[in-house]
Amino acid sequence: MTAPETDPTTTETDPEALRNRALASLTAARDRTTLLTTCVDEPDLTAQHSPLMSPLVWDLAHIGNQEELWLLRTVGGREAMRPEIDGLYDAFEHPRAERPRLPLLPPEEARRYAAEVRGRVTDLLEDADFHGTRLTESGFAFGMIAQHEQQHDETMLITHQLRKGPAVLTAPDPEPVQAFTGPAEVLVPGGPFTMGTSDEPWALDNERPAHPREVEPFWIDTTPVTNAAYQAFIEDGGYDTERWWAPEGWAHVRQHAVDAPLFWRREGGQWLRRRFGITEPVPPDEPVLHVSWYEADAYARWAGRRLPTETEWEKAARFDPATGRSRRYPWGDTDPAPDQANLGQRHLGPAPAGSYPAGESPLGVRQLIGDVWEWTASDFLPYPGFRAFPYKEYSEVFFGPEYKVLRGGSFAVDAVACRGTFRNWDYPIRRQIFCGFRTARSEAV
Ligand SMILES: [Fe+2]
Repeated sequence: MTAPETDPTTTETDPEALRNRALASLTAARDRTTLLTTCVDEPDLTAQHSPLMSPLVWDLAHIGNQEELWLLRTVGGREAMRPEIDGLYDAFEHPRAERPRLPLLPPEEARRYAAEVRGRVTDLLEDADFHGTRLTESGFAFGMIAQHEQQHDETMLITHQLRKGPAVLTAPDPEPVQAFTGPAEVLVPGGPFTMGTSDEPWALDNERPAHPREVEPFWIDTTPVTNAAYQAFIEDGGYDTERWWAPEGWAHVRQHAVDAPLFWRREGGQWLRRRFGITEPVPPDEPVLHVSWYEADAYARWAGRRLPTETEWEKAARFDPATGRSRRYPWGDTDPAPDQANLGQRHLGPAPAGSYPAGESPLGVRQLIGDVWEWTASDFLPYPGFRAFPYKEYSEVFFGPEYKVLRGGSFAVDAVACRGTFRNWDYPIRRQIFCGFRTARSEAV
């Protein structure tokens, strides 16, 4: 094993540049929040579209409340603006199913509150000190809050997908591409690499610290598994064949009569899907979306393969065999550009498998960042040397075997909340999230 090397980062120390980055990230998040909460009317904002989700108006005021709590009160030392609402917007105090019955701020008041918080945060940023504490260093707290808002924007986009009724969101589809004709899989060499990060300024606690990991050589799919490939699993009786399934997965699909990805239905011999209020044929070349970990795991077994571990996924995404170094992103150390990854809700779905050649990893693996969150085989666990920061409820309370790790972000994730080291987690039965997968196999198999 080699010692962890120093991560390449774009560490910025100039306060003016940090201020600009913080403000631009917060503004981009608010623009997206505004888009997602103004395209529906008041009854839609206060309705609960699924017991899995909050009413949109809860997310809106929660975004403002977390921003007030961390930036104005904790960093800025200001008094609480509305202490009586803190409990309503504490995600741990009230599970999602309960939130519609709370005396939430009505939409106009929630908007005003979030805007007032933002106005004060903008003032605070004017003479913010980016040194001194771990929370303020490199503008971390501002970056954390911009990521938090973008994560809720993704959550709100999931609510939009679950919402019944006509389409209210529009975005151009990704540019059509020629069918991908490259190799179906690539070999990732065994040996050590550096996983996680110690130096990325806005990385969250669960991505830290950088540490050495050893993997055996393995093969990984060049692109995420497509709808066409997944349909072959369905046509082959995949959902009716117990041996492909983990026992809990088999029990789950039997009990809930699951026989296709969420939002799919079959009509006249054709698979259709509902996407943000529009019903359309399932496009064969797109990465499959809205499958649970159990479905991904069963597909992989049917295909004679397996899900990659989280460590394997990160090595495929970040390891550069020419230098032995781990990159920030598959393509290098620069922030994502539009020709490298499908991020930030520019589109309302993934791009065809094989898109974004400019975003491929040194080993030639594509679409690791953006498009679809990718289920991995791994449970969500802390890295060696993990320290909860700035609060236990960000990650630590979720560590354990009940959650599986997802990697790489989706079309609904903004670049500020997506890195080669970024870790997401969810229950293995979840399907409403923008999740897909790719498969792997050990070299000797
Ligand atoms: Fe939150």
